Amino acid sequence: MNEHTPHAARTQAASHAASQAPNDLDAFWMPFTANRAFRARPRLIAGAEGMHYVTVDGRRILDGAAGLWCSNAGHGREPIVRAIQAQAAQLDFSPTFQYGHPAAFTLASRLAELAPGDLNHVFFANSGSEAADTALKIAIAYWQARGKATKTRLIGRERGYHGVGFGGISVGGISGNRKSFGTLLAGVDHLPHTYNRAEQAFTHGQPAWGAHLADELERLVALHDASTIAAVIVEPMAGSTGVLPPPQGYLERLRALCDRHDILLIFDEVITGFGRLGAPFAAERFGVTPDMLTFAKGVTSGTVPMGGVIARAGVFEAFMQGPPHMIELFHGYTYSAHPLACAAGLAALDLYRDEDLFARARKMEKAFGDAVQALKGLPGVLDIRNIGLAAGIDLAPAKDDAGKDAPGKRGLAAIESGFHDHDVLLRVGGDTIALSPPLIASEDDIAALVDRVAGVITATA
Ligand SMILES: Cc1ncc(COP(=O)(O)O)c(C=O)c1O
Repeated sequence: MNEHTPHAARTQAASHAASQAPNDLDAFWMPFTANRAFRARPRLIAGAEGMHYVTVDGRRILDGAAGLWCSNAGHGREPIVRAIQAQAAQLDFSPTFQYGHPAAFTLASRLAELAPGDLNHVFFANSGSEAADTALKIAIAYWQARGKATKTRLIGRERGYHGVGFGGISVGGISGNRKSFGTLLAGVDHLPHTYNRAEQAFTHGQPAWGAHLADELERLVALHDASTIAAVIVEPMAGSTGVLPPPQGYLERLRALCDRHDILLIFDEVITGFGRLGAPFAAERFGVTPDMLTFAKGVTSGTVPMGGVIARAGVFEAFMQGPPHMIELFHGYTYSAHPLACAAGLAALDLYRDEDLFARARKMEKAFGDAVQALKGLPGVLDIRNIGLAAGIDLAPAKDDAGKDAPGKRGLAAIESGFHDHDVLLRVGGDTIALSPPLIASEDDIAALVDRVAGVITATA
C-alpha cells in the first residue's frame, strides 16, 4: 500500500479493476509484443494506484518500470487526476496552429525554467518518437535558416533508441527496430555505442572506461566533413537498450567536439527527463548542456500522451528572422500542446516540486544501486548497471530445442514469471531486465522489487 492515494479511491479502483476482463483478445494488434504468446497467457492490467498495478483478477502487481519509464510520480495521483478532469470540463480541445490556450504557455515557461542554461523554447509533440523527429527536423531547418543548407547529415549512435518514426529509427541503433523497414533516411551515420563488458561489468554509476569513444566523431567529421553534418543525437543514458550510463567524461567530450565543428548536439531525454537520474534532466546531472533536448513520458507522469523539444535561445532565434506574417517552421501536430496534456503536465510538475521527487530519487540512488548490484551471482546474471533510479540486468539467454542460444526467450519468460508468479511488472528488452520504479518508491518497495526480481531470475535460469 502507498501513502499517496486515498483509501476510498484505492478500494474503488481495485474492485472496479476486477470486473474488466475483455471477451476477445483478437482485434488489438499489440505494439512491441509477442502477440501469440500474449494471447496464450494474457497479462491484463485494469487499475493502478501508487506503486502498484491491479490485474483484472484483482492481484496487486509491483510496478518495477514506472509503467514504461513514464509514471514517475506513481499511479492514480489525485492532483493530476483532478487537473485532467477539470481541464476536460473547461476546454477539451483548442487548436495551437495560429491560436493558443493559457496552459500551453504556462507549461512551456515551467519547462524552460526547469531546463538548464538557455534551453528556453518549447515545441510540443505527443510522444517521444515525435519529439525525436521534431528535433531532427529543427536541426536541419536551423542550418538552412542560417544559410548553411549543406549541413543536413544526422549522426546517431549504435544501440540508441529514439522512437519509431523514420527519423528516429534512422538515427537509432537497435537493429531489430531498423531491419524490416527498408532504406530509412539517407545521410545518416552512427557513433559506436559505449558498452564494453570486459571493461565495465558491474559498475555502479558512470563507468571509468569509454570517454575516448566520443572521439569517433572526429572520424565521422573527417569522412563526411563538418559542412555536411547538422546534428548529433544521443541519449545521455541509453535506456531502452538496457541502461548504459555514459562513461565518465564522454558527454563533455562530445559537447566539445560539436562546438569545435559547429554541429548541434541533441540529448534525447525521453527517459532521463523528470527525475529518473535524480535531477530534472540528465543535462543537469552530467553538467553538459545540449542545443536541444527532447522529452516525453514523465512530463505528464505518463497520464496523457505528450512529448516535445526544448531548444536553446540561439536555435529559436535563427527562425525568427523573416517577415513577421510568415510561419517560421512548417511543422506541428493537431495535438501539439493538447489542453489535457498541458493540464496533466502542470499538475505533474507541481507534484514533482512539492514532493521533491527528483532529489528523492538522487537520495535513493545508492540504496537502489546496492540492492540491485546484490543480484550479482544469481544464475546467468552477466552484468548489472545502475544510475539514478534505473538499472539494467543482462541475463544469459535460454537455449532452443537444438541447444542453441535463443535470444529473447528467457526475457519473455521473465516477463511471464514476473507477472503471473512474482507479482511484479518488468520491462525487458531481449534478455535484459530494465528496472525503473516510480520515484515515490520507498526503501521497502525497493527491497520488495529486488526480491521479486531475484525470484524471476532464479525461476528462469
Ligand atoms: C530515448 C527515447 N526516445 C524516444 C522514445 C520514444 O517514445 P514514444 O514511445 O513515446 O514514441 C523512447 C521510448 O522509450 C525513448 O526511450
